[in-house]
Amino acid sequence: MKSYFILDCPKQQSIADSLYGYYTGLTANKKIEKFWNSLNRQEIQNYFSTPNLEIKNWFDQLGLRVRDMSFTIYNEEIQTSIHTDAPPVIAKINFPVLNTHDTYNVWYDNDGKEIDRVECTKPIVLRSNIPHTVEVGKFAKFPRLQFSFCFYKEPIHLLN
Ligand SMILES: [Fe+2]
Repeated sequence: MKSYFILDCPKQQSIADSLYGYYTGLTANKKIEKFWNSLNRQEIQNYFSTPNLEIKNWFDQLGLRVRDMSFTIYNEEIQTSIHTDAPPVIAKINFPVLNTHDTYNVWYDNDGKEIDRVECTKPIVLRSNIPHTVEVGKFAKFPRLQFSFCFYKEPIHLLN
């Protein structure tokens, strides 16, 4: 059983740039106060109706259809702590967008002992049904931004 699987994504930088542009528009007139920020149906649909969207092509190649899309912000004021995501979701894809160097997804067992970690510099399938969090090193820059996606048919086979 794996906690994560690193995905090959040849267009990673241009997908990150596109997501960053979308994030900039979404947050232009609002202050972000939470780590986890869900997009609504309309916002997801708006983004995925962009012509020739590289992330859509990439998900299509992986056989994945997006059900939910969120972004996470980590900065001097906003962090997260060890948690398990709400069921039934098990396998999400996290996509690094900004300032993810020296930041880590870390997984724990039920006794609070670290069992796995990965630096958030590549897109991953992330196991979200066991305790996990985000930790940052001393070289991390803020704000740190990732997008998170979940799917109608989860890519759970990549975590077996
Ligand atoms: Fe989570």
